Amino acid sequence: MKVKNIILIGFMGTGKTVVGRHLAALLKYNYLDTDDLIEKTEGLSVSNIFKQKSEGYFRNLESEVILTLVDYEKFIIATGGGIVLRRENVENLKKIGPLVLLSSRPEVIYERLKDDKSRPLLAGNNPLGKTKEILGQRTPIYESAADFEVDTSDISVDEAARQIIKTLGDK
Ligand code: S3P
Repeated sequence: MKVKNIILIGFMGTGKTVVGRHLAALLKYNYLDTDDLIEKTEGLSVSNIFKQKSEGYFRNLESEVILTLVDYEKFIIATGGGIVLRRENVENLKKIGPLVLLSSRPEVIYERLKDDKSRPLLAGNNPLGKTKEILGQRTPIYESAADFEVDTSDISVDEAARQIIKTLGDK
């Protein structure tokens, strides 16, 4: 495969972390997650950054972190679900590698995340409704940013990773 890096984009709970880690193992690439980088540099969890600072503060950190990745090679980079909301981020990410969109049906996302308290945007008493609402707003943005899409609703982590390798290999 000729790609320098692979960028995984998509909504929370679509498998960016698990598929990304598996993809990295299969390709012998490194794995990196923009949320992890932000948490390390800030010394705070993403939900605490949202609480103690603000969502806008977190979004600025996301834009800054992308700029530090331009010289990376052989990395699978999983990104936070909202990173594509700024067009400038999409443009900068495209300089690093192809953007692979992971998608899933809202009910599947809900099942995967229902016991997970680390997603501030889905906190509250109607997480499925929230998921549908945000997904509805973001789907066109995800789709226009992506080079191609893999729906992980009904396939295994291994199948998703191999589908990505096959599609990039054919390109
Ligand atoms: C967010 C997704 C999260 C994290 C933050 C905001 C979003 O990342 O960046 O909670 O706006 O969709 P994951 O997609 O890795 O859960």
